Amino acid sequence: MAAAPERTSPARVVVLVSGSGTNLQALLDAVAEGGAAYGAEVVAVGADRDGIEGLRRAERAGVPTFVCRVRDFATRAEWDAALAGAVAAHRPDLVVSAGFMKIVGTAFLAAFGDRTINTHPALLPSFPGAHGVRDALAHGVRVTGCTVHFMDAGVDSGPIIAQEAVAIREADDEAALHERIKDVERRLLVDVVGRLARDGYRIEGRKVHIP
Ligand code: GRF
Repeated sequence: MAAAPERTSPARVVVLVSGSGTNLQALLDAVAEGGAAYGAEVVAVGADRDGIEGLRRAERAGVPTFVCRVRDFATRAEWDAALAGAVAAHRPDLVVSAGFMKIVGTAFLAAFGDRTINTHPALLPSFPGAHGVRDALAHGVRVTGCTVHFMDAGVDSGPIIAQEAVAIREADDEAALHERIKDVERRLLVDVVGRLARDGYRIEGRKVHIP
């Protein structure tokens, strides 16, 4: 069982991104608008690549950034350890993988596995992996959605914290459906991060308890 410690100051959140960073922006906006009442602050943003809008969003908000690229390391394990070190330098209470398109390894999970959450654009355990929106459309499901969950060693397989459904429309293509899912996903992520930060949580097996 893992449990979050009680705290009196805002939870320190490190956000990991690989792309446009609209989920990150939603968190930055929630922190800016909610102030201390939101219960969390974004202390750093990390990425696995340069030149992405996610990093620019962090810079505009005055949040420190770091980049940890797989190709700069001899092995994936070294990259994983370096990523864990870069995150650890910011002493996070929570790590948020918000469109971070890398699978982390044992060093990262040993350090942060019980406090790293991921957002995924499908109703897990259906359609894990990098193409959750496309795979749901191709399967012909009528309802998909998004899932916020704790990270574990598998692909989008950790304990589920929150989910919300999105109906698929006849005219949907991948881009249109993903945009509608992301509208819901941003709201859900902001809500989950705030609740985890303010109220704490316990993970028992596959169950996440937020008091
Ligand atoms: C989100 O739908 C996330 O679940 C998926 O990639 C998207 C990232 O969007 N893995 P953004 O970079 O936050 O705009």
